[in-house]
Parts: sequence; C-alpha cells; structure tokens
Amino acid sequence: MSEIFKGNFTQQEPIPDAAIEAAVAVLRSGRLHRYNTGPGEAGEVALLEEEFAAWSGARYCLAVASGGYALATALRAVGVKPGDRVLTNAFTLAPVPGAIASVGAVPVFVGVTESLVIDLDDLAAKAEGAEVLMLSHMRGHIADMDALIALSAARGLTVIEDCAHTMGARWNGVLSGRNGTIGCYSTQTYKHMNSGEGGLLITDDEEYAARAIMLSGSYMLYERHRAAPGSDVFERVKYDTPNISGRMDNLRAAILRPQLRDLDAQCERWNARYRVVETGLRNTPGLTVIERPDAEDYVMSSFQFLLLDWPDGKIEEVVVRCAKRGVELKWFGAADPVGFTSRYDSWRYAPSEPMPATDRVLKGILDLRLPLTFSEDDCAQIARIVRAEVSSVHQAA
Ligand SMILES: Cc1ncc(COP(=O)(O)O)c(C=O)c1O
Repeated sequence: MSEIFKGNFTQQEPIPDAAIEAAVAVLRSGRLHRYNTGPGEAGEVALLEEEFAAWSGARYCLAVASGGYALATALRAVGVKPGDRVLTNAFTLAPVPGAIASVGAVPVFVGVTESLVIDLDDLAAKAEGAEVLMLSHMRGHIADMDALIALSAARGLTVIEDCAHTMGARWNGVLSGRNGTIGCYSTQTYKHMNSGEGGLLITDDEEYAARAIMLSGSYMLYERHRAAPGSDVFERVKYDTPNISGRMDNLRAAILRPQLRDLDAQCERWNARYRVVETGLRNTPGLTVIERPDAEDYVMSSFQFLLLDWPDGKIEEVVVRCAKRGVELKWFGAADPVGFTSRYDSWRYAPSEPMPATDRVLKGILDLRLPLTFSEDDCAQIARIVRAEVSSVHQAA
C-alpha cells in the first residue's frame, strides 16, 4: 500500500494566545482606527512600526493594508510616474507587476536563473531607460545582493525590495529589505507573520518615509507616528503628496506585535521543515534541488525543485500522481495561470518579449507550501512521496 499524506497545505497555525488577548483588548476599546487613540496612548499600529523598525534596524517604518499596497506606495514615494519603465523579476507573483501597473508604470521583466533568482546579466542588459528595480525575493530565494546593489548603483537604479517571502532572511548578514532603498513586507495569512491582510514598509530615507506616510492616508496626523521623520520633513512634502488611503488598523497591529517577538524562533521552525524536504529529495534522478549559497540565510515557508527539460505531459503526470497521494504541487510552468502560479506572459497588460532561458526554468518549477502545522515527520513523508512519484515517472520516460 502506498502511503498517503493527510495534511492540509493551506492550514496555518492558530494566532498565538497573546495576540488574541491583545486583539480582544483593542476590540473592547472600540479604537480600531490607528489615529483613534486615548490620552497618552500610542496605539498598536504606531507601536508595531516602532518595534518593526527596531527589529529591522531601519530608521522608519510604516504599517499598511497589504504587501501589494506597500509596493505601490514605495513606487509612488520614490517618484515613479505613469509611463515609467520599472524593472522586476519574470519569476514573481501577480501583486508585483500589479503594483507597478497600479501607478501607471510599465513592468519590464528580467529573467530568472536556475537558482531561481534574478539574472544579473539580463538586468544589466535591460537597465537602460529605467530608474527603479522592484526586486522580488520570490519564494525566499535571494540573489547575490552585493553584486546586485553594485550593479544598481552603477546604473543609477533605486532598488525597492519585495520581501513578502524573506521576512527575517539575510544576505551576507544584511537583513532582506535593508540592502535596497525601501523594503516591503506582507503579513497576509501565508507569510511569516499572519494578520489576515497587512503590509510593512521600511526605509532610512526621510523624504520617502514622509511621502509614504502621507500617501497611506495620515491626513495631517503624521506627528502621531513614532518610526517617522521630524515635522520639518513633512512640511516639505505634505502639500503635494496625495492621500491614497491604505492604513493598517489597530486590530491587525495588535495581532502582529506578539508574532514579531516570536518571529526568529518561528523562522527556525520553518527552516527545519525545509531542510527535511531538501534532504529527502536530494539525489532523486531527474530532479534538481536548488542549492543555497553560503552567504544566504533563508527563511523558507515553501519548497521549490526543478524538473528541468521534462516534457509537459510528464510534469503533469507527477503533479497528478502526487495529488492522488495527498501532496499538492504547484507548477509554475503550466500554460494557464492556476491559483497563484501565473507566469510573466500571463500578465498581458504588461507586454513582454519571449525569454527562452527563463521559460526553460519557469517550465520546470514545482512548488510546495510548508506550513508550520506540518511536523518534520510530515515533511519527511511528503519528500518520500514526491521522490517516489518523480522517480517512477522519470524511469518510465
Ligand atoms: C512575491 C509576493 N510579493 C508581494 C505580495 C503581496 O502581498 P499581499 O498579498 O499582502 O498584497 C505577495 C503576496 O502573495 C507575494 O507573494
């Protein structure tokens, strides 16, 4: 009898008790709006921003309604205008080109390597005519940030980091989100902290921080922010920065503050699960494990592997056979977008040239979520099932 996995790939852990208690206290107060504070009260959102700034080492932090909103706000804050070209990864998820399109700019897709990171040669080739790179650390894979930042500086590119999948990860000891000019995070349910929806933006640049705060809908209440620049900076930007409301509320912030305290320990638990799957899949014929550079300290909440140069039909067979045994694989190479696995050529509002080397990689990417509700034994079982099914289909080929 073949073993069947019974776990649920989309079930996250419950919200911790301390977060539930903090949320109930906010509900009891009735003061959910971030600027609805009692006398002498900072408010949960302002405190979260202060704590996230301290955790990340950034001077300024803004909490907002979603990761996608943080990305769009970052683009507006650095001055991206309709019609501007904004470089971004061909391997990413829809909210990234979506954020670029939302400000009327034009996404320019840069290829992906077999290590699942942005192709720096392609970036150099496409940099002409662009001023901003929205760099997506897609699925937690981090490019050589020293080389990327050097290249961006030489080309005059402002780097906005999409850290939706790298909250707590580092390259050469530098926190993901702290290499670029602005770092954006998501706290949506499938990310490293869970408030249902939510986003965070960090920067050391006082003017970008002030613009982002005005953009998020601070009315003229910016002095209530704690991880923010001084009033003099707001005086410079407040009359010509539009209000595009997307604030975080006190309820979400209350849920996030206790999770931030646990974040580093939670990331360790995620990585332990990742390593079990990695060990279980190593040396499977036909399957390529993504090797991680020594400079990268990842925080993986999902696992990717490649079935490089496999015919579509055979990949589909692996997906179907694994599904029958309870293992949900997402295939980024599928011709039509399914769930979150869309490809750059599915975003037809953003015209793109074909990229054969990138298409080869995208076609071979298989993805597994690894929620913390899975035990390490569960992860070992998942790896055994994937290994067995990939091996049988590969042998029969
Ligand atoms: C790579 C990536 N960037 C950005 C986002 C946007 O986050 P949100 O869903 O909070 O808007 C997501 C969300 O899934 C994502 O996966």
